[in-house]
Formats: sequence, structure tokens, C-alpha cells
Amino acid sequence: MYKSLPILSVLTMCALTACNNESNNPTAQAPAEQTATGYKITEQSFGSFEGQPITEYTLTNPSGMQVSIINYGGAVTKLLAPDREKQMGDVVTGYASIEGFTQKENPYFGGLIGRYGNRIGGARFTLEGKTYTLPANDNGNTLHGGPKGFDKVVWNAEKVAGDSSLKLTYRSKDGEQGFPGNLDVTVVYTLTSDNALKIDYTATTDKATPVNLTSHAYFNLSAGRDSTILNHQLHLNADRYTPVNDVLIPTGQIAAVKGGPMDFTTEKPIGRDISQVKGGYDHNWVLNKEGNGLTKAASLYDSVSGRYMEVYTTEPAIQFYSGNFLNGTLKDTKGGQNYVKHGALCLETQHYPDAPNQPSFPNTVLKPGETYKQTTLYRFSVR
Ligand code: BGC
Repeated sequence: MYKSLPILSVLTMCALTACNNESNNPTAQAPAEQTATGYKITEQSFGSFEGQPITEYTLTNPSGMQVSIINYGGAVTKLLAPDREKQMGDVVTGYASIEGFTQKENPYFGGLIGRYGNRIGGARFTLEGKTYTLPANDNGNTLHGGPKGFDKVVWNAEKVAGDSSLKLTYRSKDGEQGFPGNLDVTVVYTLTSDNALKIDYTATTDKATPVNLTSHAYFNLSAGRDSTILNHQLHLNADRYTPVNDVLIPTGQIAAVKGGPMDFTTEKPIGRDISQVKGGYDHNWVLNKEGNGLTKAASLYDSVSGRYMEVYTTEPAIQFYSGNFLNGTLKDTKGGQNYVKHGALCLETQHYPDAPNQPSFPNTVLKPGETYKQTTLYRFSVR
């Protein structure tokens, strides 16, 4: 069951008690809310899709950090964050034009993922006695909401007063991609004053339906200085993960990471143990948390640029995908960049894969009268 989240109170409590011990308190150093001054949003045409104009919105915060988002798929196209020398660099993958985003091979660059992020095994699930068959798009399973998920639709976009946020809305109709119920989704992207990109998701439905929303931004914190993320140091606040079968469907077990290649409880370079994981990292880690408060999920550090990114979320899990299927063949990339294998990674905060078929996993069913809520922050600083 989804409940409203005490995010503001968590942040306020943290500020009031000056909590700063990360190991004892996972909400430590949670980012502050921004004020409205010094923000700006600019717009430029990004072509059209199925006759609808596509606009790129660029949000700038008072310290000059920028994020650009298009209303096609609600995709993040650009994210400028400072390095150790205060030089801005683009830390996400993307394309030069809409044709890049709409190419068949686009591996969800920057997109908003739904109605159900990650996999639903066998492309079907049973809910309230009825079996729903979904279009399969990944080895007989449904990945990221199906062949035309939320990353491939046009969202309504609206600037929020104060210009620190962009609000996107989308109605996913009853039966769309096989899912029951009209689902009204709102996603608000905010740049905070302390250099975080905050993403707030809410959704309501008129029939019970599984919902699992996330962002598919791919990061390489070196901003072009290192062609892969293998030297990036990753920490995941997770003692356990969900092992998968050959087609990446969870077996239902929850396994301890301790001491093995999946163990990121202490920061380590991604490349250190990756050869021990068949196919590379593409798994769901179970976050060390109880309840659905905003807590630290991960951090990522690139020693070349000094950039450090922390991920906070209200979600119970995170999919770490190490860009295993990137192979340098995508067309129309920004600046003609070659996104090679492991050229960038995703940290997708979410519920567990295949939860609609796995009763022991945390519930993903949203019912009429309830509100789905999730908040995730990617906060940038340097070390
Ligand atoms: C999945 C990968 C998939 C990728 C698509 C990730 O979220 O876990 O298996 O290949 O998305 O780019």
C-alpha cells in the first residue's frame, strides 16, 4: 500500500537536530529545499514527434548547475555539474536531436520509465483474480512498461512558479500496454539550491494496477574524460540483492552481498569485480531501510574530475545497471560521442523487478483512492 511520505518532516528534523552521522542515520545530510531566487528556465525547440512539438526545457539554479529535459519521454537530455576546478561538465548520456531519442535502439537514455519499471516475468500477471497479458519486449518478459512505455510518449510540460521546477503530466489510458486502469501520472523535476536534481513522482488510478516509476538517466561523472565508468567508485547502501535467472527475472531469493562481487557496502571501483558477474551488473539491490522515508541509497565518485553524486530515495530498492549493452553504435549522440560498453551507468530507484508475480516482494499495486508517491534526489558535489 502506498502512503504519503514524511519527506519534509524528515528534512526538517534533520536540520533541527543537525544530524551528520551517516552510518547511524541514513537521512544524514539530506539535501535542503531550495528557495525561489536565482532560478531560471529557458525553452528551445527540440523538433517534433508524431506531429507534436517537442521542447527542451533548461533549468538553471543559482550556482549555475543545469538540467535539460524534453517532453518526449520526460527525458533528461543534459545535466551540467561542476568538477573539482569548478568547470561544468555534462554528466549524462543523450542525443543531439529527437531522432536520436526515437531510434529503435535507444536504450531508454534519460527517460521516465513506467507504468512498470524493470521486468514483469512472462509478460503477464494476475490481479484480483484476473490475468493480464502484456506485450513482451525482452526475452518473453515485459521490460520498462512495454514497447511503448512512458519514455516513448509525449508528456504535458509546465513550468512551476519560481522556475526551479518543471512539472510533467501524462494520462496512461486503461488498457495501454496491457495494464488496467487510467493512470494519471505527475513528475516534477526540481533543481535544488544545493545542486541536487530532485524527481517527485505521483500517480492515481481508477482500477487496481501495478505501478513502478523510475528514471533511466545514464551517468558518467567524468563528463567525457573517461570513456567508461569502470573506475568510478560506487557505494550502495544495501546488504542484500535479488538474484536473477538467465533472463534477469528474480528467482525470489533475497541473497546477502557480503564479501562477493555484489558487495558495494564499502565504496569500490565498479571494474574491480565486474568480470565475476555474468554479463555485468544489472541487478536490483535491496536498500537497508525500513519504511518509505527519504534515505541514502548510493553514492558514486569519479576521481578524475572529483565529481561525487549521492542518491537519496523513498523507494525500497535500486537497480544498478553498468551499461552492459552499450556498444558504440547509437546514432545522433550529443557531440558525436561513442557510448561504448560500460560507457555510463544507471542507478534506477524502484520497487523490486517482477513484484506483480512475487507475493513476497513489497507491494506495487496501486488501488483507486490511493496515491503512488516516490521521490529521488541525485545530489552533486566534489571531493
Ligand atoms: C535494464 C537492462 C536493460 C537496460 C536497457 C536497464 O534498466 O535493467 O537490463 O538492458 O535497462 O538499457
